[in-house]
Amino acid sequence: MHFHLKIWRQENSKSAGTFRDYEAKDIPEEASFLEMLDIVNEDLVEKGEDPVAFDHDCREGICGMCSLTINGIPHGQGRGTTCQLYMRKFSDGETIYIEPFRVGAFPLVRDLVVDRSAFDRVMGSGGYTGVRCGGAQDANDTPIAKPIADYAMDAAACIGCGACAAACPNSSAMLFVSAKIGQLGLLPQGEPGAGRRVRHMVAQMDEEGFGNCSNYYECEAACPAGISVAFIARMNRHFALASVRNAVEATA
Ligand code: FES
Repeated sequence: MHFHLKIWRQENSKSAGTFRDYEAKDIPEEASFLEMLDIVNEDLVEKGEDPVAFDHDCREGICGMCSLTINGIPHGQGRGTTCQLYMRKFSDGETIYIEPFRVGAFPLVRDLVVDRSAFDRVMGSGGYTGVRCGGAQDANDTPIAKPIADYAMDAAACIGCGACAAACPNSSAMLFVSAKIGQLGLLPQGEPGAGRRVRHMVAQMDEEGFGNCSNYYECEAACPAGISVAFIARMNRHFALASVRNAVEATA
């Protein structure tokens, strides 16, 4: 297969960026999108040109590193990561636009690589759960109803890729933050400190410059893990309750 690529090239966050034209030739249809970029880069290196910088790690849809916007869509598809996108999904001879995630809170590092450490700082702001753990507990000591366990697992499926923020016209990270708050707070082990956690994580999200949710639902459509916007509603309820409780306690 053969593709005309328009790839965003940018030295760093201070310099101006632009789309540059590249030809991807003799690409096997079973190649993944990242393997196609590998082939293009090998060609560039052979010609003595700078290879295109792009993020990747597991290439199995687990780590969330492969943060590319392809033809205007984060990861180039809903419900899947860039590394799980295969070239057979495109037409032979197609022109493909490849650019980084466009989110103010994810500063550009180079070409297609952005710095998503804002997500790490949001997670860090949640702090730790302080409980006396004692000796190793029997696995069945804390019974958890199956619907709750399933719901927590739905939230834990978030791989923190940032596609939600990249897809949102407001660059909102509320799907990510609400999934993590759900994952950490739904099980009994996460209940201690749940109020403090939601207040701190929402405050850090705002401080990083992410926008608010105004119900476009683009985040849910772009999420490789299929996280539901229902988690955002849950987070908003818990944030309101925790804020009121905190204000009351401060005046008591
Ligand atoms: S490289 Fe890990 S999810 Fe794509």
